[in-house]
Amino acid sequence: MDLRPIGVFDSGLGGLTAVRRLSEVLPGEDIVYLGDTSRVPYGSRSRETIKRYAGQDAAFLMSFDIKALVVACGTVSTTALDVVEKACGNVPVFGVVEATAKKAASSTKNGRIGLIATPASIRSGAYAPAIRRYAPKAEIFDRACPLFVPLVENGRTEPGDVVIETVVREYLEPLKNAGVDTLVLGCTHYPLLSRVIGAYMGKGVSLIDSGAATAEAVAAALRAADALGSGEPGERRYFVTDSAEGFEKVASLFLGSGIRGEVDQVSLEKY
Ligand code: DGL
Repeated sequence: MDLRPIGVFDSGLGGLTAVRRLSEVLPGEDIVYLGDTSRVPYGSRSRETIKRYAGQDAAFLMSFDIKALVVACGTVSTTALDVVEKACGNVPVFGVVEATAKKAASSTKNGRIGLIATPASIRSGAYAPAIRRYAPKAEIFDRACPLFVPLVENGRTEPGDVVIETVVREYLEPLKNAGVDTLVLGCTHYPLLSRVIGAYMGKGVSLIDSGAATAEAVAAALRAADALGSGEPGERRYFVTDSAEGFEKVASLFLGSGIRGEVDQVSLEKY
């Protein structure tokens, strides 16, 4: 048994989609979440900036004596995982790439896998080698979708919304034409577009939620290491770098339910 909390961070609040799945598979774990809401988005920034921010995020969560760190942010996972691992020393770090790549490889039947993510994640090229470790012959068709994050944050997620449906068609048409049967949603925000994306891609295409895949991998790893908590309902602490005002409304969008636990604003300057 290990009663220490699990740390989870994201560039903003999108990483709560991973917390949601983590809470389902590991309801007895304490979670400390950091959303760098004053500096989101990371996905359109340079590698150097993303690495600097990621190092500060990890150092902040390490001050909580965590037993594992989940990098829910696709952009940090693809671009700055080395920095996070360095900041965490012996504490295990779970980025989203490995578990997602494994799940995508086991899902595809025709070996054609689509990948959508932020510009930084696509630029990193991190997914292709990871997927090919599990499916050496897989063909990968990728596309950066920079408009998805702001559209999700503005609530444009519902089927029937002509704006999001047009953008989905614009981005995904080449992947649909390529005949992918599996599509990796490589960004925290994209699970909220599952219904619109699923309807456009069609029933034969499996959508892989990177946060959920990673949460399942974390659960399996902690179980195997006999490092689960007490089994009592876990506690939540949330930290944001911008004002905590309005947190509840946006957070419940990603979490799919009301927020419980404290929310505080924090500065990462000293980390
Ligand atoms: N959290 C980021 C990701 O998953 C999306 C938002 C951003 O660009 O910071 O890549």
